[in-house]
Amino acid sequence: MDAPGIRGRTVLVTGGAGFIGSHLVDALAPHNEVRVLDNFSTGSRDHVHDDADVIDGDVADPVALGRAVRDVDLVFHLAALVSVDLSVEQPRRSNETNLESSLLLLDLARQEDARVVVASSAAVYGHPSELPISETARTEPTSPYGIQKLALDQYARRYAELYDLSTVALRFFNVYGPRQRGPYSGVISTFLEQARAGDPITIEGDGEQTRDFVHVRDVVRANLLAATTDETGEAFNVGTGERTSIRHLAETVRNATDSSSPIVHRDPRPGDITHSRAETTKARRRLGFDAEIPFEAGIRSLAGGTSLEAAISDGGSSADGESIT
Ligand code: NAD
Ligand code: UD1
Repeated sequence: MDAPGIRGRTVLVTGGAGFIGSHLVDALAPHNEVRVLDNFSTGSRDHVHDDADVIDGDVADPVALGRAVRDVDLVFHLAALVSVDLSVEQPRRSNETNLESSLLLLDLARQEDARVVVASSAAVYGHPSELPISETARTEPTSPYGIQKLALDQYARRYAELYDLSTVALRFFNVYGPRQRGPYSGVISTFLEQARAGDPITIEGDGEQTRDFVHVRDVVRANLLAATTDETGEAFNVGTGERTSIRHLAETVRNATDSSSPIVHRDPRPGDITHSRAETTKARRRLGFDAEIPFEAGIRSLAGGTSLEAAISDGGSSADGESIT
């Protein structure tokens, strides 16, 4: 994907070797000077565009961060410890990466007068008080990770007000797509790996829980819109507005991979959120963002053998149409 309107800029992508960050760098690198700051804890060098300058460093290191931010006019802040479990085991360690470093980054960005787009999360809402979940819904995160994302989201918005820093917080829902990997990578990549290996597809609980799965290409587009919008100092949901049950996901993955893996159930995840679906009106009206990639097409192309464009024009329908009032 190209980055319309973003040309000739000096851009920093923290976490630019990661799943979402590396796709964003791909969109920016052809027309901008792109810097990536990453410690490669979960990211991969192989995923970083050849034209990007890589700083192998930690966001918690003020020297590395200072070097990375110098002379930039735009920052996408994606580096984080994304494991919710790890944040429960080591709250201070994840706080250092996810929040303390982010505050330093916001201060450094003030010195450069750079715009900052931060990766917030649907985790800020915790167990939703309403469906779909609007940006004004109650925020009651259930993990240190969610608390850190909420604090980052609020800091970013308050920095706009207090210091006139140009910021946008994007609350990603469940992102999926190519390059997602690793033990904390999310249910879609886990199910795909299981289906391809012929192993049982493991549903936690009854599979009736639902998520708003949004393709990484849409998430990149939301980031690019956030880089140029006049609507700064705001938080926006980044989701499709539809939801898919985990059971339906398991079946879709099994069909898309032609797998004969059995679908099995194990204990539900303690404290799991039952349903999640983004209210998308604010992002549509004020950011101009609307997710375009239907769930079935996204899964089909991810399973292999067909491009995303072909899968979309092939008529992949969107999510399974369940709705909760
Ligand atoms: P990812 O793990 O693939 O990417 C994170 C990147 O940050 C990796 O390249 C990692 O090496 C790097 N990193 C981690 N700690 C670092 C540190 N201390 N210093 C420098 N680099 C460091 O995860 P992702 O899914 O691409 O997530 C990107 C962002 O989006 C994160 O902030 C995450 O919290 C947020 N987010 C993701 C989802 C999702 O569904 N994937 C949902 C909501 C929010
Ligand atoms: C995800 C993100 C989190 C983000 C949040 C925002 C990951 C790993 N976590 O959390 O960073 O803040 O969305 O919405 O991407 N499941 C199974 N079997 C499995 C794995 C998972 O049934 O093998 C179920 C889980 O119990 C859960 C659902 O799938 O009900 C989604 O789990 P997961 O992909 O880990 O994401 P979230 O917990 O929603």
